[in-house]
Amino acid sequence: MLICGFLFLSTAAPFSSAVLNCSQPTPASLLRSLEPVFELKSLRPVINISVPTRVGIEFTLFGILGVDEKSQVLTTFIWETLEWKNEFTSWDPVECGLEWIAIARDLLWVPDIVINEFMEKNSAPEVPYTYLRYDGLVYDAKPVRVVSSCSLNIYLFPFDVQNCTFTFNSYIHRSSAIQLELLGTYEQIFQASKEEMATQGEWQLVGITSERVVIPTLEGYSYDELRFFVAVKRHSTMYVVNLLIPSCFLITVDLFSFMLPVQNVDRSLFKMTLVLGYTVFLLSTNDLLPITGNTIPLINVFLSLCLTLMVTSLMETIFITNLQRGSAHYTPPPRWIKGFILNFLGRLAGIPPKPEPEKDLVIKNPDIQENFSPVSKENETIERKGTQKEHETLQVLKNLSRDLQAIHHHVILQLKGSPSSEEWIQIGLVIDRLLFIFYIFFITVSFISIIIIWVTSYNSV
Ligand SMILES: *[C@@H]1O[C@H](CO)[C@@H](O)[C@H](O)[C@H]1NC(C)=O
Ligand SMILES: *[C@@H]1O[C@H](CO)[C@@H](O)[C@H](O)[C@H]1NC(C)=O
Ligand SMILES: *[C@@H]1O[C@H](CO)[C@@H](O)[C@H](O)[C@H]1NC(C)=O
Repeated sequence: MLICGFLFLSTAAPFSSAVLNCSQPTPASLLRSLEPVFELKSLRPVINISVPTRVGIEFTLFGILGVDEKSQVLTTFIWETLEWKNEFTSWDPVECGLEWIAIARDLLWVPDIVINEFMEKNSAPEVPYTYLRYDGLVYDAKPVRVVSSCSLNIYLFPFDVQNCTFTFNSYIHRSSAIQLELLGTYEQIFQASKEEMATQGEWQLVGITSERVVIPTLEGYSYDELRFFVAVKRHSTMYVVNLLIPSCFLITVDLFSFMLPVQNVDRSLFKMTLVLGYTVFLLSTNDLLPITGNTIPLINVFLSLCLTLMVTSLMETIFITNLQRGSAHYTPPPRWIKGFILNFLGRLAGIPPKPEPEKDLVIKNPDIQENFSPVSKENETIERKGTQKEHETLQVLKNLSRDLQAIHHHVILQLKGSPSSEEWIQIGLVIDRLLFIFYIFFITVSFISIIIIWVTSYNSV
């Protein structure tokens, strides 16, 4: 290749070193005198082939069209500008009448600069022209729709910042043939991009930096690369409003539902409705979440944590309800359970053990009997004097009173519940309170740690 280049050069050399002559100061005459240059378009436009062509690169980020987490691509729209020197051309702007001329790109040599991360063909509109200056500088600008692969890290979604790379390099030319350089500085590129940016969707440009790298190969050659790091940050407000705040509210409602007494209101039904509502909420917001295979975003952990907490608290309620409602059929709790839960844990949870159930209700019962008895004794004295009919009536009344007493006793037993059920209810209360405290503690710790991770990572950018 090098020998061929030299052969070409030896034929082109006498011409290329010279200045082009225009017969008239018109574009047509300049174009005519440029024709020999067009014939050399397959040759890198340098007079001494061992001198590399320096290609200046710059771009303006015009739009961030989107990030596809699933296929890990970033789609952007850029205006790419390349500049290099065509040493074969040079004319006198006075003699030829113009300093710049627009030339069809395929008439001139153009460097084969590509972006390595390209995943799709450039679908931006074709621009067929380049500008050629009287001293041989070629200015080549075109729009490019860059669909670039980018290793996306969505662990911190929706507070994530993506750092994607655009690597500009010549596909086949080595450093000895093409050297890349940045036109201007990357701060200028960043400022220009921020000003020009027309569409960013849910993304915000937070920085562009660049570095030039020379990649050595095993054969002893090297390739030039110009890398741009484009950092974009997601606008997270929509996700906070649509996902996080409703979840937090539902969890709060779930927390407050512990205040519903298990005995009177059906707390489990309430919690069940809450879980159902949350499931529907998750289904309807499912397409807001990114889908990827490798990492699970923290927000998914957060949402499943909320669901898990709700389900756990539902199960807890079912357990407590069972303990409190079904306890009439249970055997009395073992002594160690009573001692441990009622005395120790109960005090810990702020529910002191109830004093031993007094028999006052049962004692009241004989009260009525005592009231009744003297009457019955009096009655007995009267009875002796009374007629047979009165005696029968009295007998009926006595039977009635005995029945009433039995019913009364039964009702009191029912109302008070058996002593064992009383204890189970108390145990249920203590466990309920303890689990509630544990629940609050767990929610606080896990939410605070998730929020800390988000805040620190959000501020570190
Ligand atoms: C252009 O003209 C100058 C003198 O006017 C001459 O020396 C030179 O060889 C000419 N160049 C070409 C390419 O004809
Ligand atoms: C080409 O350039 C190289 C290095 O710049 C130099 O050593 C060599 O002499 C030059 N050749 C000619 C023909 O000018
Ligand atoms: C992007 O990553 C590159 C290297 O991996 C680093 O030099 C650059 O500072 C990063 N940009 C931002 C904004 O984090």
